[in-house]
Amino acid sequence: MSYHYVHIEDPQTLTLQEGDDLSCAADEVVIDVSFAGINRADVLQRMGFYPPPPDASPVMGLEVSGVIRQAGADSGFTRGESVCALVHGGGYATQTIAKAACTLRIPPGIDMKMAACLPEAFLTVWYNVIVRAGLKTGETLLVHGGVSGIGNIAVQLAKSMDCRVIATAGSPEKCQLLDSIGADISLNYKETALAAQCEAHGVMGAVDVVLDMVGGDFEQFNLECLAVDGRIACIGLMRGGQATIDLTQLLMKRATLSGSTLRRLTPQEKARCFSEVNEQMMPLVATGRMTPLMDKTFALNEALAAQDYMASGTHAGKLLLRCN
Ligand SMILES: NC(=O)c1ccc[n+]([C@@H]2O[C@H](COP(=O)([O-])OP(=O)(O)OC[C@H]3O[C@@H](n4cnc5c(N)ncnc54)[C@H](OP(=O)(O)O)[C@@H]3O)[C@@H](O)[C@H]2O)c1
Repeated sequence: MSYHYVHIEDPQTLTLQEGDDLSCAADEVVIDVSFAGINRADVLQRMGFYPPPPDASPVMGLEVSGVIRQAGADSGFTRGESVCALVHGGGYATQTIAKAACTLRIPPGIDMKMAACLPEAFLTVWYNVIVRAGLKTGETLLVHGGVSGIGNIAVQLAKSMDCRVIATAGSPEKCQLLDSIGADISLNYKETALAAQCEAHGVMGAVDVVLDMVGGDFEQFNLECLAVDGRIACIGLMRGGQATIDLTQLLMKRATLSGSTLRRLTPQEKARCFSEVNEQMMPLVATGRMTPLMDKTFALNEALAAQDYMASGTHAGKLLLRCN
């Protein structure tokens, strides 16, 4: 099987290029990619707004599922194993390289398509909601973008912890989808103001953790909906990177506002989180207690159409590329 990858000619032109088979270092694996997950960061990279770090592959794609074609001597994996992995770029391809520490065996009960939905969402949700924001059993979590590839995993993880979950979405149909994955309160952010909706549900000032991928003009609401000692974990800026907030609220609520991007985590931090995710989150999917929402799958040479579909915002759940 030869190596093909998606090359960015310019922001509106992606071509399929051919290269030599990949080979990996001792602590890495080469994967024959079955499916690659599509992420917002890929769209930003294509547009030239999110250049990959110098040590990353220039090829788009941050997560894959597939079969190991070469296992590095110290990787702990063997050729032929089914895995999913977070990759340092290079996922939009027929082969890719992953650090063994960021590679997970796919347990029975999870197919290749589903497995490709997991690495980025699992790590983002675990790191931000559990490690940074410290969500505990029985607390209340508010998730913006609840039916997004990231958001639906956060909703389902929190429900598995017996938390109360409030989630936002931009249409009645998406709110129904939120209900179907277990959200206790679904809010259409395009209807009435979120604060008024939370007041009506009696949850204003009762939220322990906000998983925020929107920022902008919703940041003040995020602060206002928090309980005392509440935590906001900011992972995205779909409503913009500038916000005016009343810092008095931050003080009075002893609130914590944090932010992160996965790409900035050290390999050690990623490895630690991956091991926790493997233990705590993978079994939820393998036993059917969590089912990632999936939307469409595109062919590898349809990457531009797939990204345009993501940018349109009409999708719900994960978008994938079929790579082999
Ligand atoms: N920091 C990190 O480490 C990290 C890692 C992964 C992803 N992310 C970020 O997480 C976000 C979700 O990623 P994804 O791959 O799951 O993307 P996605 O499926 O396209 O989700 C985007 C979500 O944002 C919501 N949204 C878009 N515009 C909005 C607006 N103006 N107001 C309110 N909500 C809006 C959408 O809700 P509706 O469709 O219901 O309108 C949708 O659910 C992205 O911003 C991405 O950059 C961050």
